[in-house]
Amino acid sequence: MIPKSFIQDLLNRLDIVDVIERYLPLKKAGANYVACCPFHTEKSPSFTVSQSKQFYHCFGCGAHGTAIGFVMEHTGMGFVEAVEDLAKSIGVTVPQEASNLPQHKVAPDLYDLMQSATRYYREQLKQTPRAIDYLKRRGLSGEVAARFGIGYAPDDWQNLKAAVPNYQDASLVETGMVIEGEGGKRYDRFRDRIMFPIVNVRGNVIGFGGRVLDKGEPKYLNSPETPLFEKGHELYGLFQAQKAIRAHQRVIVVEGYMDVVALAQNGVEYAVATLGTATTPYHVQKLLRLCDQVVFCFDGDRAGQKAAWRALENALPQLQDGKRLGFLFLPEEHDPDTYIREFGTEAFEHELDNSLPLSGYLLRELTAEVDLKTQEGRSALLKNAQPLLTAITAPTTALLLRKEVAALAGVTQAELEALWAIKPVAAPARPAPPKAKRAAPSSLRTLLRCLVMKPELARELPRGFQPEGSDGAAIAAIADWLREGDGGAIGLTERSASLRADTASVPLGYPPASPLRGLHESADETSAAAMIQHFQGTAHQQALNAAQGEIMHLGEDFDVQSDFLGLLRNIRRDAIEAEMSALLAKGLGGMSLAERDRHEQLKKELQQIKTPAA
Ligand code: UTP
Ligand code: MN
Repeated sequence: MIPKSFIQDLLNRLDIVDVIERYLPLKKAGANYVACCPFHTEKSPSFTVSQSKQFYHCFGCGAHGTAIGFVMEHTGMGFVEAVEDLAKSIGVTVPQEASNLPQHKVAPDLYDLMQSATRYYREQLKQTPRAIDYLKRRGLSGEVAARFGIGYAPDDWQNLKAAVPNYQDASLVETGMVIEGEGGKRYDRFRDRIMFPIVNVRGNVIGFGGRVLDKGEPKYLNSPETPLFEKGHELYGLFQAQKAIRAHQRVIVVEGYMDVVALAQNGVEYAVATLGTATTPYHVQKLLRLCDQVVFCFDGDRAGQKAAWRALENALPQLQDGKRLGFLFLPEEHDPDTYIREFGTEAFEHELDNSLPLSGYLLRELTAEVDLKTQEGRSALLKNAQPLLTAITAPTTALLLRKEVAALAGVTQAELEALWAIKPVAAPARPAPPKAKRAAPSSLRTLLRCLVMKPELARELPRGFQPEGSDGAAIAAIADWLREGDGGAIGLTERSASLRADTASVPLGYPPASPLRGLHESADETSAAAMIQHFQGTAHQQALNAAQGEIMHLGEDFDVQSDFLGLLRNIRRDAIEAEMSALLAKGLGGMSLAERDRHEQLKKELQQIKTPAA
């Protein structure tokens, strides 16, 4: 667990403009920065970055978030990875809360070492006609070889002596580049091989795959798992493919290094390969963050079929309604590399467009080996389908597949769900009829907007303030979050203590005469970003996103504090008026003595509100 306070501190220290500019150029436009949105295709820029608020928002596609969110969206990194990456960029280390497993630390010089090796192998390729010929025979241009950093490891035992200052350094063994034999004798792992650098999404080389030029075993030799390289997490070619994946909203997952490179050579730049392992749930999750469609295209042989089924199994828990997963089965003797070279790009892309959807593949396999005409067959279908279908959490996909399997087995969906002892997939609940509102929705939205600008204002809200609707719920959640974080959050603690002292004696919900004494414009600017970050992926994200979009639209030059106070005053006024009319409805005679006192008190309060002290 990364401590919450660290996230806030990190967002305080980063500048979102710098972070985003690592990935795309921004232009200044008024108070904000703009660019063409990296998350959808557009001609004129609607992607807007607010430096003062430290968040981004796209008016075209609705993408929005903080610096952390941007890095996650743009690179497909997970939250922890993104935080670590950003922390590294400003030279701080991420603290781990005590309960966590010890993390292996990656010394920056391990990356440098891999970089030096890459440079060295590329240099060697240039000087080795035999290796150049091999790549040419496989149809690769120098341009594509350069794009993938392809190199050559000469046929010698200690090549890397020429690439690093000290061949005895521990880092060579740690990165798997060198093997230490008996008696401490060292030699290179990769000898006389075409070298494919494996690059992570940040652009660092973390491992290699090395292919023999002629016949030899093994055909491919890979870096072992090292502190830099975790096979189940990485995808070969993802760094190079990121841009095309976004542009096409599609990614192809293939088996081999050469498949990725040959597809790129033939204009299909959105392919990645698993690294000699099965497709993991992590892979699928990472790819679905980047685009809407994932097509698995494995070799036409038995091994390819098996890999496809493993991919399906591991993809099920990651499915999301509205995202498409497809499977493309090539003729038995082909892999993507040979197929595209034989039949061309157009034919290959046509096949991709017609790939078998995951549901079709799943049902095809489930029904292939059972005889649905017999009861035994239908029973076997239900048994085989259970672990697969219950792994799916995407509601619509789960619902449709359950219906279909139930129909095939000749039972109802309810019977199937009872048999498997699973909860029915609920039909989407109809929204509850709106209750009477205390404040008009627009004033709640305005209030929410103020809180997005200055979350700390939520401390001024009356405790137990529970306005209606999604904006109201978001407002209440922000107030809870702030109060919960008091004492933990960096930079907020001191002042909030004094603010609470100010407001403690004030009657419920009534703003003190001058509650914001001592609030300075500059402080805590980025706590807004921390707040947005905190509510990413929660029920409140949408309301916050809408408010954030409005802020970008309206500009930021309105007076948040006086707007906020005005709104609070109105909300309080409405509440008083409602209570007074409820009392009056009893008639003067119907009121108890206490109720009459209350009415008097409310009347005074109302007068006070309507004539605010200058
Ligand atoms: P393939 O045997 O299908 O090779 O292995 P390929 O990709 O078609 O390679 P070319 O076209 O003969 O050059 C697919 C992937 O499985 C892993 C590699 O990642 C390879 O790209 N593999 C294969 C190994 O790790 N070691 C091996 O010995 C073979
Ligand atoms: Mn091949």
